[in-house]
Order: sequence, then C-alpha cells, then structure tokens
Amino acid sequence: MAHIVKIIDGFSFMPREGQNLLEALESQQIEIDYQCREGFCGACQVDLVDGEVSYDQEPVAFVPAGRVLPCCCRATSDITIEIPESQRKTG
Ligand code: FES
Repeated sequence: MAHIVKIIDGFSFMPREGQNLLEALESQQIEIDYQCREGFCGACQVDLVDGEVSYDQEPVAFVPAGRVLPCCCRATSDITIEIPESQRKTG
C-alpha cells in the first residue's frame, strides 16, 4: 500500500509502487545530494520527522538518530521528512 510522503516546507505526495524514497523525491523534481545510491556513503540523508521507513538492506553508512537514507529506504507508514538546506541541490 502506498503511503503519503510529506515534506516540511514543501508538499505531500504518494510515491509510486516500487520506488525508494530517493526515486520518489526525484520523480517530484526534488533533487537532493547523493553519491552511491546504495547506502554506503551517507550523502543523501534527510530528517525523518514522523513515521517509519524500512531499508531494503541495512545501510553500511552511519545513520544518525532522526535521519534516514532515502536512496535505500521506503516509507512503511505515512511519513514527514525535512530536507536540510545543505542537502538541497541548487540550480
Ligand atoms: S547516496 Fe550514498 S547512502 Fe544514499
């Protein structure tokens, strides 16, 4: 079942079936920093304000409390995320 992703200071949307969170954000033209897209580097992390995600595979990168790695997780409930200013790609 699809869950709603709400972005603080942004909008809410429903990811398509099979998309991880990074792919879901990209499909909404929301570009964030990433490198490996496989849970190794930790570059993509965003704040998980509310809700739950699950990882396809436990990430190798250290994930600080309250943060998630969009490149390798999916929402398992409705979630609210905050994309830190430093994570947003600019023009
Ligand atoms: S892009 Fe490397 S952990 Fe997400």
